[in-house]
Amino acid sequence: MNEQSLTVKDAIIQRRSIKLFNGQPVDREVLLSILEDALWAPNHQLRQPWRFIVACGSELNELHELLKEYGIPKWHELSEDALEKQMQKYKNPGGYVFVIVPEDARQKERLEDYAAASMLVQNIQLLAWDRGIGSCWKTPGFLDNPKFRESLGVKPGERIISMLQVGYYDEAPKPKPRKSIEEVITFFGNEN
Ligand SMILES: Cc1cc2nc3c(=O)[nH]c(=O)nc-3n(C[C@H](O)[C@H](O)[C@H](O)COP(=O)(O)O)c2cc1C
Repeated sequence: MNEQSLTVKDAIIQRRSIKLFNGQPVDREVLLSILEDALWAPNHQLRQPWRFIVACGSELNELHELLKEYGIPKWHELSEDALEKQMQKYKNPGGYVFVIVPEDARQKERLEDYAAASMLVQNIQLLAWDRGIGSCWKTPGFLDNPKFRESLGVKPGERIISMLQVGYYDEAPKPKPRKSIEEVITFFGNEN
């Protein structure tokens, strides 16, 4: 696939969250190049309030162990087959990007930082989509588990805002309809 093939409009409209990946590995260089471009997201005072913890290739095995421990309730009570079945949702993505944002004590800055990092995530998702790589922003509860955070390498004062799964897929899901523009717009002064 070309480095860039979609218009911005098409990328925005056609991107879908991919939850069923086909297991094909994501090349480290491709993922790094996507993340590098995504860093151009707008952010107030150029605080660049983000860092990534990335797993693709060989380090995925260790991450899968962590996801098993914290992401599969009572995993040790499951049969090998049942556990393997449940683990597919963690093993099928070709890579993981954990997006880490500082928790500024000041509310305005903290909200701005979350907003900026969300734009960065959208950048990643669109750039990946353009290269035929799907993604899904996931926020399972265990992201805030102190033991999971520590095992992942997250420091006090930081928050994992997204477990972004990335990977190749065989089929994109159908789009879920959005509200029409008429439903969400009021022209100033015309509200009844
Ligand atoms: C902040 C945020 C958190 C999300 N968390 C999850 C999640 O935990 N699990 C999940 O399956 N999808 C999650 N999603 C993906 C949404 O479900 C998805 O974007 C929505 O269904 C619309 O589908 P689309 O992205 O294909 O347009 C999240 C999306 C956002 C923006």
